[in-house]
Amino acid sequence: MRNKFIIEAREKFLSGIGVPEKQEFKADPFQQLAISNISQSKDTLVVAPTGSGKTYIAIESIRTTLSMGLRAVYTTPLKALSNTKFNELRNIFEPKHKVGLLTGDRKIETDADVVIATTEIYRNELYHVQDRYSLVVLDEVHFIADPQRGAVWEESIILTPKDATLLMLSASISNPYEIAEWLLTVRGKECEVIVEEKRPVELRFGFLHPQLGVIPLEDDKQRLLREVRDFYSNKKKDQRDDRKWSGRKNSGGRRGGGSGRRR
Ligand SMILES: Nc1ncnc2c1ncn2[C@@H]1O[C@H](COP(=O)(O)OP(=O)(O)OP(=O)(O)O)[C@@H](O)[C@H]1O
Ligand SMILES: [Mg+2]
Repeated sequence: MRNKFIIEAREKFLSGIGVPEKQEFKADPFQQLAISNISQSKDTLVVAPTGSGKTYIAIESIRTTLSMGLRAVYTTPLKALSNTKFNELRNIFEPKHKVGLLTGDRKIETDADVVIATTEIYRNELYHVQDRYSLVVLDEVHFIADPQRGAVWEESIILTPKDATLLMLSASISNPYEIAEWLLTVRGKECEVIVEEKRPVELRFGFLHPQLGVIPLEDDKQRLLREVRDFYSNKKKDQRDDRKWSGRKNSGGRRGGGSGRRR
């Protein structure tokens, strides 16, 4: 009976995962607004949930920049992500435009029309040359809050020339207006903020149970699923038993050790 419930709950939990049916592409209003801002050279910070299509904004803005004979850079915090974006942008813009890559490991066509770089390398480059790019895309810009690496994003923003346009993208910035105020003070120009709340990819919370496999974390009434509760109460019980047993062993050991020290 409960088995049937678990099987059905799992089916429901996993339903809809996969490649969606093809539909005609239509840019969302927040994407259109961001692209329009960038085409008017306005610094823009876009905060939109994961999978909502922030890359599309970057690509269309790069397209406009390249069509005007200007250059663009797309920065990401990770080498792997830079490699992925490099391949993605190559497929889109080559052979009409040159696409380059600039990471600690790989340097390809570094004077290309559009360069994909890790943010650290872009920041380092800014200390030598500053006026290379008309459009600067800072993807995953929430790294600015990272205690270790955040300064790299701060420096990149401060050192990017004021006549370049900044496009900053993130899924997880909670204080975009505060950041925009700071941008105004360091760059001396307004930063437009676009916040999109709509989540195209629904979040579902699951639990990987050692015996039952993937199960939803909660039931339909948002209560922790019984199997999850049982798992943790059994675990607590096991821990209590472990402590009881190790306590017994330890107390024996302590006695022995104590007598040893006394000797
Ligand atoms: N307007 C749209 N309608 C439907 N699909 C779209 C739209 N815009 C972009 N997409 C598709 O959405 C998918 C996810 O987009 P993308 O990788 O740009 O997400 P993201 O916002 O950058 O997410 P993340 O925060 O995880 O980096 C891509 O496959 C993209 O082609
Ligand atoms: Mg993205």
